[in-house]
Amino acid sequence: MSTFGQIFRVTTYGESHGASVGAIVDGCPPGLPLGEADIQVQLSRRRPGQTNLATPRNEKDAVHVQSGIEMGVTLGTPIGLLVKNEDHRPHDYSETDLYPRPSHADYTYLEKYGLKASSGGGRSSARETIGRVAAGAIAEKYLKLAYGVEIVAFVSSVGKIHLPSSVAPLDSTDEENDAATDALSPEFLKLLATISREEVDKQPTRCPHPETAEKMTQRIIRAKDAQDSIGGTVTCVIRNIPPGLGEPVFDKFGAVLAHAMMSIPATKAFEVGSGFRGTEVPGSKHNDPFTRGENGRLKTSTNWSGGIQGGITNGENIYFRVGFKSPATISQAQETAQYDGTPGSLAARGRHDPCVVPRAVPIVEAMAALVTIDLLLQQNARKAATSLLPAVTTLPPTMVLPKKSL
Ligand SMILES: Cc1cc2nc3c(=O)[nH]c(=O)nc-3n(C[C@H](O)[C@H](O)[C@H](O)COP(=O)(O)O)c2cc1C
Repeated sequence: MSTFGQIFRVTTYGESHGASVGAIVDGCPPGLPLGEADIQVQLSRRRPGQTNLATPRNEKDAVHVQSGIEMGVTLGTPIGLLVKNEDHRPHDYSETDLYPRPSHADYTYLEKYGLKASSGGGRSSARETIGRVAAGAIAEKYLKLAYGVEIVAFVSSVGKIHLPSSVAPLDSTDEENDAATDALSPEFLKLLATISREEVDKQPTRCPHPETAEKMTQRIIRAKDAQDSIGGTVTCVIRNIPPGLGEPVFDKFGAVLAHAMMSIPATKAFEVGSGFRGTEVPGSKHNDPFTRGENGRLKTSTNWSGGIQGGITNGENIYFRVGFKSPATISQAQETAQYDGTPGSLAARGRHDPCVVPRAVPIVEAMAALVTIDLLLQQNARKAATSLLPAVTTLPPTMVLPKKSL
């Protein structure tokens, strides 16, 4: 359905060529200082037409708050967010009246609903993600003010061009090397600990490694010139996240993250922490040993777990990677079949992204924020309920956390 979250609930609405797209955000805590400018920052990072590496569809994507905010603070009531579709050109899609685009959603929507939007991708278009990004910006503002949480995503690969292995060790293919510490390099941990959105946005590809970013730019331009497309990956880190978030067993933090990320259009893969690389490293190297933390809590000296153990955050940085396919709509002619089965050739007109990952960065950040705030509010509800009970003093020490005097 079109709603995500249990307490911080976001419902997105709108088709790509309709009057507007947007979201209703229900369950936002009251008293959060919030204005349209807070939301616009992330929408402007998502919007099309920012560089020659994205679709030329020129949308301002200006957000209009409809409800739920007065005098610059949230009321606790549903927040209505509206963004007008301005630069839509339904006639661009006339050949797709005949042909379902290969690997797009035209055929499956028609099979499912028995009808579909008359032009463009309708709900399957990336314009649907505007509502997510707007809602995510609200979640982020709360997370930042209340807990200092920081979420930063960046492009880690385009096609076969990856961040160098010193910076992004997750792609090691050295068969004989069991040395986990080599793979989880200090450079990678430093990148996760320090990367900022300003740094990411210095490159049009949003890859924070300038040499690699330039190669990615050339790769995307090559795809565009060939009237083709190319995929890539986005890596994201969540910093300053409190321990204890995530609801075993079905709503583990990683499970909800996977749900959120795999709901973004064009996603094909998700991994958290060591991910697929972790399957190649022996337990003796892969385990994250505990050490004494500054605040009397335990912390880990490595972070293969990606900040999640047993589906619950342990207070370390959460990091994960999302794989995006090469966009389906390409102007190059493809042999395929019409809706009635007649074989033919489709060269899709219209304006399309040759590679989605630079624009997917704020979408990944938004979905990470929505997961974090919802699981945080769930944990806070549990803690608030327990705090009203008399303290239990009869439990054996094996059942409780030691007092913070480690
Ligand atoms: C930021 C972004 C931009 C996108 N732009 C395009 C595009 O221009 N052309 C296209 O065919 N798909 C584009 N997509 C992907 C389609 O929306 C998606 O492939 C389609 O809905 C089919 O769904 P699926 O790939 O998840 O199976 C984009 C996705 C994102 C996240």
